[in-house]
Amino acid sequence: MTVSGRPAAELLGGRSLDWIDGAVVMVDQTLLPDRYRLLRIDGVPEMVAAIRRLSVRGAPAIGVAGAFGVALAVREHGADGLELAEAVESLRAARPTAVNLARMVDRAAARAGEGFDAVLAEAMAVRGEEVAASVSMGEYGADLVVELVERPQVRAMTICNTGGLATVERGTALAVIQSVFERGLLAEALALETRPLLQGARLTTWELARMGAPHRLLVDSAGPFTLARGQADVVLTGADRIVANGDTANKIGTFSLALGARYAGVPFVVVAPESTIDMDTAAGADIPIEDRGAAEIGSVRGVPTAPENTAAANPAFDVTPAELITAIVTDRRIIRLDRGETLPDTPLGPLRTPS
Ligand code: MRU
Repeated sequence: MTVSGRPAAELLGGRSLDWIDGAVVMVDQTLLPDRYRLLRIDGVPEMVAAIRRLSVRGAPAIGVAGAFGVALAVREHGADGLELAEAVESLRAARPTAVNLARMVDRAAARAGEGFDAVLAEAMAVRGEEVAASVSMGEYGADLVVELVERPQVRAMTICNTGGLATVERGTALAVIQSVFERGLLAEALALETRPLLQGARLTTWELARMGAPHRLLVDSAGPFTLARGQADVVLTGADRIVANGDTANKIGTFSLALGARYAGVPFVVVAPESTIDMDTAAGADIPIEDRGAAEIGSVRGVPTAPENTAAANPAFDVTPAELITAIVTDRRIIRLDRGETLPDTPLGPLRTPS
């Protein structure tokens, strides 16, 4: 698409989404890597659908999308009333696991009484904070990797997509890999393909190729064995929700990697902005885990891989217990869980109870 006569790539630059000319413009991540196409979203139902089908995905990115969605809601329904409340609730509930979505929807909605301009300003602030957080996580994380890994050149394993597509720019775990690469210290990134929607195969390899970083793709089940063979020095993952005791929800397959890393004696590092920390939830067992239904795993991009109507369970996330996590890198600090350090009381405040 073109907006204001500008071509797609130039319009968003390296960002995954932004507010441009009165609407949200985002890369449609369902089409990558075959096609780079932008979506223009100017209504709440369209935004909810984009979040649900993963056109925009990744915890920080859906937080930003949700905040922009509230601006769309206030523009359409005004500063208060039932229609606004319903629109806000539909955004908040679009996906349950990443705490960023509910948190940033609440944050933008808290300004609704001040009108559209105030809500949009809040959403732009959320966007700006996530961009700054990515830069800071990359640097903190690269410092930690240098400390944890004894080899001069680092082999870093990662799962799902945690790059600029999952945030706004640069990313979380992939921002660390990018910083390690920019310091001249990356031997290779090992990207797990991330069944069933292939965020690792489709998106992470696309981002690594664009940054020129050496990388190889592995099937998910090769991750723990590759660690056990001593072929990776560190595992770096993102997070959708980190709760008070340090338990961390992330893309399904992360827990198996953490188990493999513990077996192999490889450091397992979670990288996430503090907007992903949920101090109101005590432990991982209380995190809502999204089940995305059978259709997604009975076929790959439209081609059946199981007999029609095969029953399936499709948890999109799992929970890695804190005891398997070496450290959590945020935009503000490094928390060494392996040394008994604990999470800070996040300054972001408690989540509102859903109405
Ligand atoms: O279902 P997705 O693609 O939204 O899952 C994303 C992840 O699990 C990421 O690892 C997480 O959101 C952190 S992204 C910076």
